Amino acid sequence: MSTLVHTRLDVRPLSVFTGAEIHGVDLTQPLTQDEVDEIRAALLRWKVIFFRDQHIDHAQHLAFARRFGRPTSAHPYDANPPEGYPQIRTISSASTTGRRGERWHTDVTGVVNPPAGSILRAGRQVPAFGGDTLFTNLVAAYEHLSPALRALADGLWARHQFGGFNGDFDNQTVYAQRVQASPLVSEHPVVRVLPETGERALFVNPGFTRRIKDVNEEESRHLLNLFFEEITRPEYTVRFRWQPGSIAFWDNRATAHQGPGDFAYLDVERVLYRITLEGDVPVGVDGRHSNAVLGKPFSAFGVDTGAVA
Ligand code: SIN
Repeated sequence: MSTLVHTRLDVRPLSVFTGAEIHGVDLTQPLTQDEVDEIRAALLRWKVIFFRDQHIDHAQHLAFARRFGRPTSAHPYDANPPEGYPQIRTISSASTTGRRGERWHTDVTGVVNPPAGSILRAGRQVPAFGGDTLFTNLVAAYEHLSPALRALADGLWARHQFGGFNGDFDNQTVYAQRVQASPLVSEHPVVRVLPETGERALFVNPGFTRRIKDVNEEESRHLLNLFFEEITRPEYTVRFRWQPGSIAFWDNRATAHQGPGDFAYLDVERVLYRITLEGDVPVGVDGRHSNAVLGKPFSAFGVDTGAVA
């Protein structure tokens, strides 16, 4: 396996499987098509890419995102985006979402078309240390299963759910009440085939995947634990330290991530801004598409009228 990608951008891999820093581009300026193509190629190769010292504002963040897809509304449950930017979700350690610490997850897999990508940018305020984000590579996880387990996983489907259960949130918050009241539920293939590369990703995550279909509850629990252990193996992960001007852009079809569990101990409030890109409906190894059980597809809901380049 080659670990080098030859581009005119300076692409610096951060681990054998996952993550690369991109240098030699200025995101305060409009990107050329070559730059867009090279960034996209790096994203497909490394699954999550990082930029440093890119001090962009909300408008520039949005302009960057639109070169790679169609931004969704901020979040299916988040009604408090920054003024004038309904596509941007503010993620603050002091927020009122009542998060009890992060679990490994892929963004919004309760919907039938989970976001294709997420672009998370540090605000002016991030802690000097602590508050890191972890990412893992679901393709590497799939490819290192034994052949017999890959064959089993290829034929499985799983139910993903966002909301409608207790445990992750402090129920006193408005956000938590909204999540509980309107669950999003979909069935996705356990192994999804990525359209551009044909790679197979082990598309399950502890945050939202609740149940393997067509097996009994105990079997489902064992299988999910096995897959969760596989996707979170340290060798597939990369850990990102935030600084002002840092950006992480992940392929949400091929990764899971875990925000910090040390929110309560940070020396300053940690503020990040996230844009998610509208996703396609996952396709399994047998060509079947995911289906929605509860809730609508996650899209711009009329808030984003910008052109996709
Ligand atoms: C997210 O889950 O998108 C946020 C991750 C983080 O806060 O580091």
